[in-house]
Parts: sequence; structure tokens; C-alpha cells
Amino acid sequence: MQNFKKTLSEILSDKIKADFSADVPALEIAEMFEFPPESHMGDIAFPSFKLSRTLRRSPQQIAETLSTSLEVPGASKIEVISGYLNVFISHEYTVKSMLGNMLTLGDDFGKLEVGKGKTMCIDYSSPNMAKPFHIGHLGTTAIGNSIKRIHEFSGYDCIGINHLGDWGTQYGRLAVAYEKWGSREEVERLGVKELVRIYQKFYIEAEKDPTLNDEARAAFTKMENGDEKLLEIWRWFKEISLKEFMKTYDLLGISFESYSGESFYNDKMDAVVKELDEKGLLKESDGAKIVPLEDYKMPPCLILKSDGSTLYATRDITAALYRKNTYNFDKCIYVTDAGQSLHFAQFFKVIGLMGYDFEDKLVHVPYGKISVDGQKLATRAGNAVLLEDLFDEAIKRVRAVIEEKNPDCDCKDEIARKVGVGAVIFNQLSTSRIKDINFVWDEALNFDGNTGPYVQYTYVRACSVLEKTEANTFELPTELCEEEKEMIKVLSLFPIRVRQALDDYEPSVISRYMLDVCHAFNRFYHNCPIIKAGDTTKALRLSICKTVKSVLGNAMWLIGMEKTEKI
Ligand code: ARG
Repeated sequence: MQNFKKTLSEILSDKIKADFSADVPALEIAEMFEFPPESHMGDIAFPSFKLSRTLRRSPQQIAETLSTSLEVPGASKIEVISGYLNVFISHEYTVKSMLGNMLTLGDDFGKLEVGKGKTMCIDYSSPNMAKPFHIGHLGTTAIGNSIKRIHEFSGYDCIGINHLGDWGTQYGRLAVAYEKWGSREEVERLGVKELVRIYQKFYIEAEKDPTLNDEARAAFTKMENGDEKLLEIWRWFKEISLKEFMKTYDLLGISFESYSGESFYNDKMDAVVKELDEKGLLKESDGAKIVPLEDYKMPPCLILKSDGSTLYATRDITAALYRKNTYNFDKCIYVTDAGQSLHFAQFFKVIGLMGYDFEDKLVHVPYGKISVDGQKLATRAGNAVLLEDLFDEAIKRVRAVIEEKNPDCDCKDEIARKVGVGAVIFNQLSTSRIKDINFVWDEALNFDGNTGPYVQYTYVRACSVLEKTEANTFELPTELCEEEKEMIKVLSLFPIRVRQALDDYEPSVISRYMLDVCHAFNRFYHNCPIIKAGDTTKALRLSICKTVKSVLGNAMWLIGMEKTEKI
């Protein structure tokens, strides 16, 4: 479809020049096409109203003029309806060019070249050490991983960065709490859970005795100045936390190119604060140092507290400069919940005010909130759903289903893991990222709904057809039934969807597309016998199954789902 679209754009661009003496570049036209949801509306449609302004004509007039003696190779029919130019692609072109191209490219079909020679950094997941890794982090982890893979698939060199929250006054509090109420044995035995417990105890005790806060601040200042005893404990806590986070990353098949967290910038911030000062950007406010941003309709960006300690933004500005110097990125993406949007807008602006030209290469990708079975999350109270528990539960539930449906299956554990984890990921990524989502167990795990398990099941079906049959002819027909045509058309949209997901930082474009592929495939599978078909038809249908397998397989990888060839 991409090639057809490209040719059609060039033809239309020339035709517009000839008919209206206007210059509309083919690349611009390529952005305007739509893909009609129903086949009687054509396979690709050009909405002429998009040119009404430029050409100062009504959409209907434009469409009619353009369609007159319009020659498009591969088109069987061109219709004008309500200002749309509806183009129907011939069966021969569908098989020979579209399916042919997909078969030739195999697993490379869908890959893009836009990112060739470019580097992107993506800061995602980035939980805070000694805190629970909970369902609120699912968004950044799943969306970030998918956006990274979409970029990889589009040719980019990708640097995944886990900007661990491992620095700040809270680690002074934790150090004080450990000293007063902690024990090595308990921390070793219970890990992060125990760290969370003593941290919460700090809050309760500090209500009664506010001098604890001064102690905590002093402890953090000592850490900032390199107090080895405190740093040793802090390093140990960090190791324990990372070990726990790694369990979830391993389960998801995620790894990072860099685990440089906030503390990594500790010795790099002085120079940046100095630079801000020298560039005349720093102002004093109640003893603190800020960069005023009222000209940009934002509250000031806080750089130093009155006691001289650094803040989240100080570390982020320093990290952005470091990343630019180290990786020379073409873009640097940050995936966090929408609650942090202001923070990113502020520090991006400060980078621009410092005179750097890469402010527009910094991209914040926000996402909405998640609740589980309608329950909002409350971290402080400690009752947040942990990611580890969420995945365990999903795996357990899927295992029970497999046990019931297919008791003889010999790798239940592996399949349950892939399908269970995939169900949670698919559920997270199937709605536009900015929308709030409610995680409902029964919906996410339903094999018949628009879910991860349904996608896995369809993939298995395509695999099993291919396993059972060998194609003994490669001659493909030039006539197609409705289901075959639809299936090839949907498959041919893959690169276009990848591009859209890339441009919009939107994994849900891929998940929705996966559902389109699955729906088309299941219709095709029910209505078109494969094994019993005659040689030519069988070759065609097997070629379709093969392409479904590679497109769906790649799409699953793009959103971070693992494949299974049997259930
Ligand atoms: N640690 C932060 C949190 O849990 C997210 C960090 C995002 N990345 C960044 N460079 N600020 O909210």
C-alpha cells in the first residue's frame, strides 16, 4: 500500500499542476490519504476538501476535475463521492505487487528507513529506589519500551535510559530511619518492603518530632558531600531495589543501555549551576535560586534550595546536557505520567534559554492514570498494586485457563507467562496513552475480547496452519475473494501504521492495528478453506498466513508482547 500511495501522490501532484497550475508536493499529498473502513468505498481515498483552500474550489469540483482522464497503474476503478476520490486497487496489483512485496521482504516488511543514521535516547520506567515498583509505573515501562522498539524498527539507534530516582532528601530520611528503626537482617530478608516500612515510620515519627526532618536534611547534605558511611548504606539499598526491579524487567524482556540515575549527576551539577549563573538566568527568591519563566507563562524552575541542595530539575537539566554531549541524540524522549508535564516544559525551556539549539529535540511523552478494578492507587498507605504481583496474578489466571482448556499441554508455565504478561501489556497499550485506564481483570484476560490473549490465539492459529501444510506451487491467482482481498489490504497497511505510531509516540496505533489484522484473519480463516483448496488458491492462502505470521509477530514485538506458537 505504501508504494501504491507514493505513486498515487506523485500522479495527483502532477495532475494538480496540469489542471489547476498549483504546486502541491507529492509528499504533502501522501499525508492526506485515508483508508476507508468499508471496501465499497475504495481501498484508498483522497479527501479533496484538504485542497479546497489552496485551490479555491469546492471539494466536489476538485475531485471531479482530478478524476477526469486520471491514469493510475494498478487501479481498477476511481469514483468520486462527496468530494472524495475513491480509488479501488485491482486484484492483480493486490496479489502481484502488494502481497508479492510482503513475501519478498518477509520479516523485514514494515521496517522503515527514517531513523537510519539517527540516535534517539529514551528515558523511561525510571522508578525511585527503595519505593514499591507499582502499577503506576506500568505506563512508563510499557509505553517507553514500545516507543523504543518502534524507533528501532524505524532504523534509529536507541539508547534506553533508566533514570533511577536515587538521589534527594528522601534518601537522607531513609538513612535516618534505618539508623533508628532498621536492621540489616530484616532488610536482607524483606528487601524493598522493609525499606518502605521504615520510610513510612519516619513520616509518622516526624509528625511527633519535627527535628527528625533536620536530621534527615543534614544526612542528605553529608551524602552530597561524599560521606562514605552513609553512601555505603545508600549503595546497598540501591542494589536491593535494582535487584527487585530487574525481576520485572526480565519478565518483560526489557533491558537498558544506561542505568545512570539521578545520583550520577551529583558531581556534574555545580558546573551547570555556574553556567546558569554566568548566563544571567539565575535569580534569588527567598534564599533559593530559580530561573523565572513568567514570560513563558510558567512558574519558575527551581534550581537550588535555600540550603544549597539541588532539585529534580537541576538533575534533569544536567542530565539533558550530559546526554547531548555523550550520545549526540537527534531526539531525547521522556515518558512519564501527565502529572509531570509542567516539570518537563519548564526544564526544556531553561535549556533553550541557556542558548542550546536542541530544546525542540527534547520530547515529553505523557500518559494517563491507571486504576485497578475501579480502585485508585494510594502509594503512601502502602496498598498500591505492585507490578510483580500484578504480573504474577495474570500468569496464575492464564495458567488456570490453559489447565482447563488444554490439560495435556506440555509447556503450560512458559505459555502462561507469555500470555499473562502479554495480556497486561496489551491492555495498557490498547487505548491512547493520554487516556486514564481502568484495569479490569476479566476484560484484560478474556480470550474472546479485543485483548492480548485474543491476539496470541490468532497468532497461534496462523502458525498452526503453516505447520500443517506445505505449499506445492508458487503460482498465485489474479482473482480474489472478499476476505482474501481485505486481508492483504490490512496487512499492506503495516508500514503506514508503524510510521503513524512513530510520529505520534503512540503504541496504541499498533495495538489497534493488531486487532484489525486479527479480525480480518479470523474472517478469512472461517470463510476460506486452506488445506482443502486447489493448488493455486492454497498457495495464495498460505502466503497470506505466512504474512499474517510475520506482521502480527513483528507487531507483538513492537508493543512488547512475547509470542507463543501454541496455546
Ligand atoms: N523517578 C521519577 C518518578 O518516579 C521519574 C523520572 C523520569 N525521568 C526524568 N528524567 N525526570 O516519578
